[in-house]
Amino acid sequence: MLTIDWLRRLCGLPEGGGGLFVSGGSLANLTTLAVARERLPEDDWPRAVLYCSDQTHSSVDRAARTLGIVGGRFRRLVTDAGQRLDPRPLTEAIRADRAVGLLPLAVIANAGTTNTGAVDPLVELANLCAKEDLWFHVDGAYATAAVISSRAAPLLAGLDRADSLVLDPHKWLFQPYDIGCLLVRDAARLESAFAILPEYLRDIAAAAGEINYCDNGLELTRRFRALKLWMSFKVFGLAAFRAAIKRGIQLAETAGEILREAGCWEITSPAQLAVITFRHRATPADPAAAEEFHRHLLDAVVANDHSLVTGTALEGRPVLRLCTVNPRTTDADLRESLDRLGRLAETL
Ligand SMILES: Cc1ncc(COP(=O)(O)O)c(C=O)c1O
Repeated sequence: MLTIDWLRRLCGLPEGGGGLFVSGGSLANLTTLAVARERLPEDDWPRAVLYCSDQTHSSVDRAARTLGIVGGRFRRLVTDAGQRLDPRPLTEAIRADRAVGLLPLAVIANAGTTNTGAVDPLVELANLCAKEDLWFHVDGAYATAAVISSRAAPLLAGLDRADSLVLDPHKWLFQPYDIGCLLVRDAARLESAFAILPEYLRDIAAAAGEINYCDNGLELTRRFRALKLWMSFKVFGLAAFRAAIKRGIQLAETAGEILREAGCWEITSPAQLAVITFRHRATPADPAAAEEFHRHLLDAVVANDHSLVTGTALEGRPVLRLCTVNPRTTDADLRESLDRLGRLAETL
């Protein structure tokens, strides 16, 4: 409870909020969306609609499927040029769905997309949700932790308006797997969504005012996930986490400078929250040829055995992606890795 409460306060959720440690972001998204669904009477669940962007993590699709929110009722909207969810088409989609008798349930915003680190306009989306009476969920599995850094906090403004949010300590709080965390604005909603007390558990029922975390989510038997996070906050102190996150943000910016200086790279999304994407100028324009070029390049990177870069796609075209969250990476490591990458690209 103490560790959850630290995270609640760091994210700016009010007293009365609460949360749960789970295995990771996937379970956290599923759990929070199950809580959101409780806003509707069970008979209305087949008409519930979820809204998110085309950059939303696949765990949210999976959560929606698991909850039976499928087909046209899981709406992925096309993002703007900065890979952010645009509130205008979202408002239109909500109105159109209401007009045909569907029941808009929740907006899922990104606080740091996996692909590019883009943050959806959280304040505008929170305002829209308040106006339209929708649940406001924020998936910030990797980047929400950056709220503790003064460098990133302004970018994440509006996080404190979330009805629920996801933050994975096993991502940017440097914890060993598995520890994901979900937070909700109103802790009582967890228990009302999940508590079931069969006769064989009555002996261990929570006393009045006590939290029994097995009543707050999907897992009955649970491991003591809070311990490692509690211990590392105690041992290293919050200042060490702040410095490590700031370093990750700076590293992505430094990568941007190195890529620009080299002249052979096109930056496809700028450094944001420790993620930058780019492609080599020699990448073929034809999509299939570009895929092949990238596959060969990524294979060459692995064979080179020095550093790793991952691949993804933006607007249907492959890009390279650096996620610089390791604070031990030096500027020299970064320069050497990008120099090698450029040389490998030129051999293809
Ligand atoms: C934004 C986002 N949401 C959810 C997840 C899923 O988290 P996990 O792998 O811990 O289940 C990820 C994982 O990369 C993520 O980046």
